[in-house]
Amino acid sequence: MRAHEAGWAHAEGNHRGPAWLRQPADVNALVPLLWSATARKNVDGALEVGGVDLRDLVAEHGSPAYVLDEADFRGRARAFRDAFSDYDVYYAGKAFLCTTVARWVAEEGLCLDVCSAGELAVALRAGFDPARIGYHGNNKTTAELRRALEAGVGRIVVDSFQEIDRLARLTDELGVTSGVMVRVTAGVEAHTHEYIATAHEDQKFGFSITSGDAFEAVRRVQATPGLRLLGLHSHIGSQIFDTSGFEVAARRVLTLHARVSDELGVEMPEMDLGGGFGIAYTTQDDPSDPAQLATEITKIVEHECRGFGIAVPALSVEPGRAIVGPSVCTVYEVGTVKEVALDAGASRTYVSVDGGMSDNIRTALYDADYSCTIASRRSDAAPVLGRLVGKHCEAGDIVVKDEFVPGDLAPGDLMAVPGTGAYCRSMASNYNHALRPPVIAVRDGVANLVVRRETEDDLLRTDVGA
Ligand code: LLP
Repeated sequence: MRAHEAGWAHAEGNHRGPAWLRQPADVNALVPLLWSATARKNVDGALEVGGVDLRDLVAEHGSPAYVLDEADFRGRARAFRDAFSDYDVYYAGKAFLCTTVARWVAEEGLCLDVCSAGELAVALRAGFDPARIGYHGNNKTTAELRRALEAGVGRIVVDSFQEIDRLARLTDELGVTSGVMVRVTAGVEAHTHEYIATAHEDQKFGFSITSGDAFEAVRRVQATPGLRLLGLHSHIGSQIFDTSGFEVAARRVLTLHARVSDELGVEMPEMDLGGGFGIAYTTQDDPSDPAQLATEITKIVEHECRGFGIAVPALSVEPGRAIVGPSVCTVYEVGTVKEVALDAGASRTYVSVDGGMSDNIRTALYDADYSCTIASRRSDAAPVLGRLVGKHCEAGDIVVKDEFVPGDLAPGDLMAVPGTGAYCRSMASNYNHALRPPVIAVRDGVANLVVRRETEDDLLRTDVGA
């Protein structure tokens, strides 16, 4: 009997994970679907990404660290660009943005979606062509809009009547025109966490199609001399697997598009169907690939346009997570290992690492599932049901709720969590005055620091108390 088989009975006895969690055949192996393209275990059982042994990476840069697989990121960006070849693909920078990534996005021929002045600043610093930037947000200030107009941002996605007024005043004052898309809520209940679903009626984004606000917003934009009406924009939520949500949304948005054509005599040239394409965090998730998504979405749009007798507008999509999510893993060092007794003689192994909810809030915030693997060595010990937790003063500071981990994990071991590229560094905080980890791009055996680790001086820079 092999070691992991011997461990099976032991781990089963301790099992308190979700029903779907199965002990892996080999805790030393990777599940390819969850990892970036170049991730592999080497002869020592250590994790290598981009040809870089994570033991060496940690020796040089410390832990925790976000490890960004450049070839994987570029590959996914290219896959979207090629699959949606008739579309403009806007990479959603809110998932993760730094100047290096903005440059890769430009080099791979994608456009960029920003949703704040800060993201815009990063894009401009990277030299991203402003004409290929779209700017979102439900509460852009006058100063932010001014900055976007002065920079020459290609399209501003308006989200309220007040914003249309603000933009009208600004374009007038600056003597410029602005490309405008109208963000609409299609009234679709996307099957995802409530806080990341965005197209149902009772929430802050967009103009409701049902109430007539969306039509009225289009009318006002069209009637404003400084604003060039480009089209409608719909984003139904994030981490969505079921394409029927996109189907229903596309139908509703196209119905409005056709109504605008009928009643206002205006053929809007563009339409954006947003992002939200899901990725695999665990073996439970079964995402579609970009080609599949493109085929299905295009079929729906073309079918609807034929039905309405209207030309297919120039389409765009805005994937964030599906590009950067799988490209990054986070590497942590184990600090303590504690076996905690549960009921009926079972136990759970709490593995505390040197990061936590300050570098990945998604588990605590959305009840997200992640997986992890030992990254520094091979282990032939029997697997146990583990929980990877952080070092913050909060019981909910969990990174990976349930995963089988080697039974001999010890302080100093490295653990890696895949799928942390989207909304982990971008939502990272200084909770407990933690220093946010660096982002290290790896490729062809070389590790390049692209965002450095914060220092105590960074923490204290804003503390101006006498
Ligand atoms: N376009 C718009 C207008 C959006 O609001 C978003 C995401 C995207 C595109 C990109 O969505 P993606 O393809 O990355 O799913 N913090 C949450 C996700 C919030 C998504 C916000 N909007 C999370 O960690 O799951």
